[in-house]
Amino acid sequence: MKLSEINQDFASIFSEAVVANYFAPGRINLIGEHTDYNGGHVFPAAISLGTYAAMAPRQDQTLHLYSANFKQEAVRVIALDKLAFAKADGWTNFVKGEFALLQEAGHKFDHGLDIYFYGNLPAASGLSSSSSIELLTGAIINDVYQLGISQLDLIKLGQQVENQYIGVNSGIMDQFAIGMGRKDQAIFLDTNSLAYQYYPLDLQDYRVVIMNTNKPRALSDSKYNQRRAECEAALAELQRVVKITTLGDLSAETFDEYSYALDDEILLKRARHAVWENQRTIRAAQALTNHDLAEFGRLMNASHVSLEYDYEVTGLELDTLVHTAWQQAGVFGARMTGAGFGGCAIALVKNDQIPSFITSVGTVYAETVGYEAGFFVAQIADGPHKITETELTIE
Ligand code: GLA
Repeated sequence: MKLSEINQDFASIFSEAVVANYFAPGRINLIGEHTDYNGGHVFPAAISLGTYAAMAPRQDQTLHLYSANFKQEAVRVIALDKLAFAKADGWTNFVKGEFALLQEAGHKFDHGLDIYFYGNLPAASGLSSSSSIELLTGAIINDVYQLGISQLDLIKLGQQVENQYIGVNSGIMDQFAIGMGRKDQAIFLDTNSLAYQYYPLDLQDYRVVIMNTNKPRALSDSKYNQRRAECEAALAELQRVVKITTLGDLSAETFDEYSYALDDEILLKRARHAVWENQRTIRAAQALTNHDLAEFGRLMNASHVSLEYDYEVTGLELDTLVHTAWQQAGVFGARMTGAGFGGCAIALVKNDQIPSFITSVGTVYAETVGYEAGFFVAQIADGPHKITETELTIE
């Protein structure tokens, strides 16, 4: 959908002209999976697919929200003094949550808004469409009501909406990757201290290909919360023998030394993933600095193996994509990205091999799984922003 179409649609739905447009990206994670709630490192990047908004202020005290992705739902009307979470309110909860938590923090909204949303991230793909809406809404609110909230606080607010309002116990990676997104840069973040550094994503003649399982979403949030609880249990056991505050405090060697404290095999596997994945992420950042994409790719592969066998968050669909990708010519590495249990995987593929890569992996996937996978080449993009008049089209 083009921006001009969004704005025409807005005018016919709300009977007024758009006052401003905004965009927030989605994200991929290159490596560092399920480490963000374990005090480890992550290495994500914002992508050019994301969520667009068209907005005009209202005179009254209501929000009128419409999504071109949920056309059947028509316009949802929400009073600014009735912002409690309601399951029946679906996607609008991500918007309501932003207003609700800011209100709780003492901010006053003297008028409502009409907002039209359109997202071009594939649905339920694990590319953080929910964080994209949260950060987009944060950017709109900050701009319209002139709240002067820092980008870091908007990132933290997005995570609070997820944790306290929606009820998913996620870490800070997605909101951080989106909020701090920068064109052609990956973000190396220490989730313990929130210290971060941009790394130019110089992939030479390679590209990141995103592979979507198209698997219908099922039960992923509860399994996510379960993994988090298992890591907390493992940490508590380890703390009886070694002084640490997070699993990210352990190196592979110190983990080895103290792993005798974990007599439950499941806890041992979960903790081993968290500790080693953190170490792999640190090494991957170094490999990128050294322009060693072959090493970077091997670390991606090792990450997937660990997520498959130790963390157990992959499944047939992601494993088929990744294992098949590993066998193709011109591939340095491949792994699942995001929470897992479906969603997307990524592969580092040589430019001129991308068409044959997509055909081969796509064929094996359809034969094995019974439906098609989706493929697209990632473009690394800027974080949330107001759209200028020169940004006329949407890919
Ligand atoms: C989801 C969460 C993130 C992170 C990843 C796994 O995307 O929202 O906080 O935990 O899963 O790395």
